[in-house]
Amino acid sequence: ATATTADTFRPALHYAARNTWLNDPNGLIFHDGVYHLYYQNNPLDNVWGNMSWGHATSPDLTTWTEHPVAIACDEEEDIFSGSIVFDRDNSSGFGTDSAPPLVAVYTSAFKPGSAHAGIQAQSLAYSRDGGYTWTKHTANPVLNRGSAEFRDPKVIKYDGGAGSYWVMVAAEATDFQVVLYKSEDLKSWELLSTFGPANGTGGVWECPDLFPLPVDGDPDNVQWVLTVNLNPGGPNNGSAGQYFVGDFDGGAFTSATTVTEGLQDPDRLGEYQWLDWGRDYYAAVSFSDVPDNRRLMIAWMNNWEYANQIPTSPWRSPMTLAREISLHTIEGKPRLIQEAAGDFASISDPARAFRLAHTEIADGTHILDGAAGSVQRIDVTLRPGSATEFGLVVRGDGDQGTRIGIRPVEGALVVDRRDSGKTGFHETFASIDTAPIRAIDGDYKLTIFVDRCSVEVFAQEGQVTMTELIFPAPTSTDLAVYALGGTAAVTNLDVIHYA
Ligand code: FRU
Repeated sequence: ATATTADTFRPALHYAARNTWLNDPNGLIFHDGVYHLYYQNNPLDNVWGNMSWGHATSPDLTTWTEHPVAIACDEEEDIFSGSIVFDRDNSSGFGTDSAPPLVAVYTSAFKPGSAHAGIQAQSLAYSRDGGYTWTKHTANPVLNRGSAEFRDPKVIKYDGGAGSYWVMVAAEATDFQVVLYKSEDLKSWELLSTFGPANGTGGVWECPDLFPLPVDGDPDNVQWVLTVNLNPGGPNNGSAGQYFVGDFDGGAFTSATTVTEGLQDPDRLGEYQWLDWGRDYYAAVSFSDVPDNRRLMIAWMNNWEYANQIPTSPWRSPMTLAREISLHTIEGKPRLIQEAAGDFASISDPARAFRLAHTEIADGTHILDGAAGSVQRIDVTLRPGSATEFGLVVRGDGDQGTRIGIRPVEGALVVDRRDSGKTGFHETFASIDTAPIRAIDGDYKLTIFVDRCSVEVFAQEGQVTMTELIFPAPTSTDLAVYALGGTAAVTNLDVIHYA
């Protein structure tokens, strides 16, 4: 993926389709040694439409290969979001006992004039060649509630006290509800329970996921995480993902972290648990069947507020980095911790590595000579002084730049992209966004991936993340430190350059 003058925004570390539109990640699964990333794709254009499942694979979550469209829309239906399971025991009968199939569970968004016009219902397709070619089930849809807003099935294999069966979580989008179903064969589904509305309900609920995670690495203390994406209604406007931690007994999910029942209280957005506080982290969903019980997630790096207008070409929208997530007790509460999962060492350029030891930051902005770049990982520890705000400017040029900083008194992490290059394509894009953050032993530690058209910030060892698109000029490559209205210090700073 080499940038050309016409395509200076194409990311090096993140997946983007070659020359088409994409949105949600779909059917994430590790199978036969390969990570499969399917996604909402318009095979014919670089705006939303003709929804089909595009397909890419990666051996390592670092480099991706695009494949032909996996499941295509037709005159009856658009293929909306969903998931894939490896049907090991051939419970569906779509394969054989010796060659069990992969089964995709997707939303049929039935078109006007079709047999189920206006309905969203769940359908199946299967693959007998490890995920490269797919056949639609002849008796679709398999789960139809007569709803126009029933979508995004995520299917998992439940194996616990209540038995062993498939469980589906899907969204009744405008009811702010996750509905849970069970099945023995992926074809006939029985309602188990519903969850919601709760916490963020400012928009529709979409793309739920449900998975167990040990707390603090203790296999005897497993809790369940329910993730729900909502649009709009995120903490900094537009699309975002929230999560609940609690218990799943094979029938119902009970949240231990719900702050508000029923309709959203706009004043309490800051108290909800967000997968990411930035503007561009949506439709996050996790991989199935990753070895060693690792839980990896990918999100769509865009926001429905302006998704169709972002100034990239011929492709439009990247995915986020794959993230490994874990559950830890923080201030007595179970919280998700996130870190980048890909190993980018193989594409790093050690000769350009940059390091800064302890350095005082005087009031103002100070370019770091020798640290410029547009695809880099920055690890920095910052210590407050008298400044009201301090941090880094990435992709700068003395005039333009994206500020990533800390306001210690407010307890806020700030991403300011008001001067991040092309921002005028939509009235709400130029923004200054914040997330709550606390010092740890007096310090603030940030890991930042800068990748041509994005910044992905993992703060305080992944306790808080902020992901945002930026569209700087190719010549805006300076890295700087800044302090506003006083001083601060860098305890240490490391930059790795890629590609
Ligand atoms: C989320 C979403 C899903 C739907 C898909 C359609 O971004 O709206 O609910 O399945 O996109 O492309």
